[in-house]
Amino acid sequence: MVTVNRNYLKLPGSYLFSTIAGKVSTFQKENPEARILRLGIGDVTQPLAPAIIESLHRSVDEMAHQETFRGYAPDLGYEFLRDAIAKNDYKDRGCNISADEIFISDGAKSDSGNIQEIFGADNKVAVCDPVYPVYVDTNVMAGRTGAYNKEKENFDGVIYMPCLESNGFLPEIPEEVPDLIYLCFPNNPSGAAITKEKLQEWVDYANRTGAVIIYDAAYEAYITETDIPHSIYECNGARTCAIELRSFSKNAGFTGVRLGFTVIPRELVRDGVSLHRLWARRHGTKFNGAPYIVQRAGEAVYSQEGKKQLREQVAYYMRNAHYIYSELKKAGYSVSGGVNAPYIWLKTPDQMSSWEFFDHLLRNAHVVGTPGSGFGAHGEGFFRLTAFGSYETTQEAIHRITQI
Ligand code: MLT
Repeated sequence: MVTVNRNYLKLPGSYLFSTIAGKVSTFQKENPEARILRLGIGDVTQPLAPAIIESLHRSVDEMAHQETFRGYAPDLGYEFLRDAIAKNDYKDRGCNISADEIFISDGAKSDSGNIQEIFGADNKVAVCDPVYPVYVDTNVMAGRTGAYNKEKENFDGVIYMPCLESNGFLPEIPEEVPDLIYLCFPNNPSGAAITKEKLQEWVDYANRTGAVIIYDAAYEAYITETDIPHSIYECNGARTCAIELRSFSKNAGFTGVRLGFTVIPRELVRDGVSLHRLWARRHGTKFNGAPYIVQRAGEAVYSQEGKKQLREQVAYYMRNAHYIYSELKKAGYSVSGGVNAPYIWLKTPDQMSSWEFFDHLLRNAHVVGTPGSGFGAHGEGFFRLTAFGSYETTQEAIHRITQI
C-alpha cells in the first residue's frame, strides 16, 4: 500500500501567502466594486530595467540561430554569471569567495527550502520568531521537527529565537545549542538589520559550537546604513560555518523571471564531509540549471548600466518605505524596519490580533498586508507592509489606512 510523507500533515492550513491570496480573492468576489491595494506579499511591481531587457532580447536571438543556440546549462551555472557574482558581490566587498563556490539556481525560495536536504534528519534547527515560513515548513516536511503545538502556535523540537521589540527584533543566542541556524538579514518580515559586529558574534558562536548558519541575504540591496554587512562573508571565519543564499528577485525584479544563488565555501566541512560537495551532488542530480537567457539577464545586473538602473529601482522602493514609515508614525503607529529593508513592521492598534487587523484593513480600507502571526507566534500583534508597490498605490494605501 502506498503511504505518504505524513510529516506534511503536521503543517496547519496552507502556505501563508496562499492563505492570504485565498482570503483576498473571496473578498473581491463578494465586493466586486472594491479596488484592492496590495501591500502584502513582497512582490515587485516595477518593470525589468532596460539593461536586463536588452540582454534578454540578445540572448533570445542567440537561441534562434544554430551557431549560438544553447541546450542544457552547466549544472552549477554558467561561468560568465558565477564570475560576475564573485567579483561584484564578493571580491569588491572584500570577501574571499571564488566563482566555483557559487551555485546558480532558480531562486532563493527553492534554495532556502532545499538546502536542509543535505543535512541529517536529527539536526536541531534554530529559527528567528517571526520568520520567513519556508525555513520551518521545509524542515517540518523533512521530519526534522515534532508535531505542531496548538497552544504555543509553533512546532515541537524547533528552537525559536524570539525577535521582539525589546531586543530590536534581533535574535539572541539560544540556551540550547542548535545544529542549523537560519538567519535572514535584512530581515523578512521585520525589516530589522544586523550590524557586522553582532553578526560576527553569531559566526564566532557557530565556529565554536560546530553549528552551520544558513544566511539569507535576499534583501541586501536595500541596505542604506554603513555598519550593516551585505554578506556574512564580511565576518571573519564565516567560510568555515556559513552558507549564504542570494536572490535576484528583490534587487533586480526577477520574481517572475527566477534566478538566485547559494554560496558554499570549500572549507565548510561537517561530519567529515564537504557541504560544497553534497550541494553540488544534489544540484547535479535534481536540477538542470537556470535557463541560459535568464542567466544572461542576471549577468546584465552587474553591467555598469544595469547597476545604475537597479540603484534607481531600489531607491524608488525605498522612497515608498520611507513614506509608509513616516506617515504611519505621524498617525501614531508604532513602526520599525523600512531603513535597510523594503518591509515596514508595525504594531497593530487597539490590541487587535494580527489577523483581526488584516480583516479590518481589507474590509474597511481595501488594503492587503501580511499578519505578523503568519510568520510565527512572536509576530502576533504585528503587521507587515511592503514597499514594493508603485509610489501612487503606496500613497493611496497609507492614506486609506490612516483615515479609517
Ligand atoms: C514575502 O512576501 O515574504 C516574500 O515575497 C516571499 C518570498 O520572497 O518568497
